[in-house]
Amino acid sequence: MSIKKGIILAGGSGKRLHPLTLSISKQLLPIYDKPMIYYPLSTLIIAGVIDVLIICNPGEDILFRKLLGDGSQLGINITYKIQEKPEGIAQALLIGKEFIDNSSCILILGDNIFYGQRLEEKLISAGSRSGGATVFAHEVKDPERYGVVEFDSSGKAISIIEKPLNPKSNYAVTGLYFFDSNAHEIASSLTPSARGELEITDVNAEYLKMGNLQVEVLDKTSTWLDAGTHQTYHESSEFVSLLNKKNGINLACLEVEAYKKGLLDKEQLRDVTLNMGDSYYQNYLMQFLESEQVD
Ligand code: DAU
Repeated sequence: MSIKKGIILAGGSGKRLHPLTLSISKQLLPIYDKPMIYYPLSTLIIAGVIDVLIICNPGEDILFRKLLGDGSQLGINITYKIQEKPEGIAQALLIGKEFIDNSSCILILGDNIFYGQRLEEKLISAGSRSGGATVFAHEVKDPERYGVVEFDSSGKAISIIEKPLNPKSNYAVTGLYFFDSNAHEIASSLTPSARGELEITDVNAEYLKMGNLQVEVLDKTSTWLDAGTHQTYHESSEFVSLLNKKNGINLACLEVEAYKKGLLDKEQLRDVTLNMGDSYYQNYLMQFLESEQVD
């Protein structure tokens, strides 16, 4: 059975993107043709999530609500919670206590974008594991920017360190975490790091210590982007635009992903499409519906 609950952490100070994020949440900025949050939300939908909690900064929930509402237009449930201050990614597991309600959940960072042909398979398989935590690692050129995982000669993960000065490998832990029901308790036992944050890497390190952390390496057929700096923000838009123009792939089209998962039927997808403004996006959905008619 896959995990049905997912949290998107969409707060943070967005400092690295100033002045872009002085007056608006980073996760509402566009990545090519869609707001950033569409990308992690589509990853959750692909993973089989139907209950979503969006955690954002004070005063910004109104904007996310305007964009995504209660999720019914996608056949899912979306609720919102506030993080008063950006006190760390692991705090999402505390803020989400009631939502998680002692079950398994997926946590995804609001600025992380995933693409890959076998991604769905990997997500479903991570969600079907009976216990422990699963994280995904991706090879990068600048590991010191991330949580970094070290492997032994047999490929087993042996350490995980947040933003190490001397990284033990080039494998960054991506911002997508599958947790069993112990995550809240582990997060509750953490103390803030030197930078004053409850570190998600400390949660993962605890699972590793218990022998309960699975690290899945995303190979070269997968793309992972963290759109948190000006450079990677720009690269993310470029990547999504190229996929669209060259391969005809409309990444993070939420309505289509919801339809493919059986969360919306054809009639519901048609209604949602007709309710949209006359736009390229509406045209894309129309064309998708027509192609479904032929099948
Ligand atoms: O992107 C993957 C990396 O994300 C991991 O490799 C690291 O282990 C993990 O710590 C994280 O590192 P970043 O430096 O990229 O985290 P950042 O502070 O940029 O926050 C990531 C997202 O989470 C961003 O969209 C803002 C949001 N956030 C962050 C914090 C610390 C919050 O909403 N609240 C917070 O308190």
